[in-house]
Amino acid sequence: MNAALRAVVRIGNYHDLHVYGIYSGYEGLINGDIVRLEKGDVANIIHKGGTMLKTARSAEFMTKEGRDKAYKTLIANDIDAIVAIGGNGTFTGANIFYNEHKMPVIGIPGTIDNDIFGTDYTIGFDTAVNTAIDAVDKIRDTADSHNRLFFVEVMGRHSGYIALYTGIGSGASGIMIPESVQDADALVKELEKMVIKKKLFGLVIVAEGNENGNAQEIADLVKKRFSVYETKVAVIGHLQRGGSPTAMDRVLATRMGHGSVEGLLSGKTNHMCGVHNNEVVFVPLKDAIKKIKPIDRDLLSLPTKLS
Ligand code: F6P
Repeated sequence: MNAALRAVVRIGNYHDLHVYGIYSGYEGLINGDIVRLEKGDVANIIHKGGTMLKTARSAEFMTKEGRDKAYKTLIANDIDAIVAIGGNGTFTGANIFYNEHKMPVIGIPGTIDNDIFGTDYTIGFDTAVNTAIDAVDKIRDTADSHNRLFFVEVMGRHSGYIALYTGIGSGASGIMIPESVQDADALVKELEKMVIKKKLFGLVIVAEGNENGNAQEIADLVKKRFSVYETKVAVIGHLQRGGSPTAMDRVLATRMGHGSVEGLLSGKTNHMCGVHNNEVVFVPLKDAIKKIKPIDRDLLSLPTKLS
């Protein structure tokens, strides 16, 4: 998100625009927690995780009164367009705000979950997956040396993208995600095949929002029915949400930051600036919010074929 902010400020400055940073998301907009940002204010942040503007969930912005207050802050500061960086909640707020006040807005998709329709990738996803794969590589050493079956839980309350890419990239034997209800029987069958093939250890990646339960619940289920392997659970957790962003994320965020300012200047509004087939694209916010980004089923079927 810092890389996107840097690009918005600097492209804005490049076009002689005044750019303001709003602290803590919509909460800062309501409370007037806002600061003018110049080129130098966003120096030395491109390599940092998190966001220098901080972030918060705003219950008040969900009310009409809260959004009216936010609008007053914008008018008082002579602001005539918004770039909103975030996920579904951020975009839903931006869309309602646009419909009520006609304040031009462009959204930039920033969420590790990669679950936003209309963009191939969201800011943070690549970094989160690389962190998760790094962790699974380390867990693999114990799984291999001790002949254990690990269930590794990655983030994704409603989305299996992190689990899918982590599973493929770490060579896991199984992937369990919210978008596909794989029952424990199917998993046990796969594990039985592993035994026949004399595969001595296993890694199964489970998204936290998986339909049949989290990693611990799946492990308990499997343990009851299948005692060949010693079963262990590892939850990677918020490690995936931080750290220095990967090159892919920095470039993606910079392109989207640039695209959002250029989009506003050319009259685009109430759209998300995304990247599709390596091209910067603009997608109506209502589609980005409502339409479901499908999971690649071919990719999901690969561990069964590969392991
Ligand atoms: O939406 C991004 C995400 O990281 C999810 O993958 C995860 O379930 C959730 O946020 C965690 O949110 P919190 O940090 O508020 O617990």
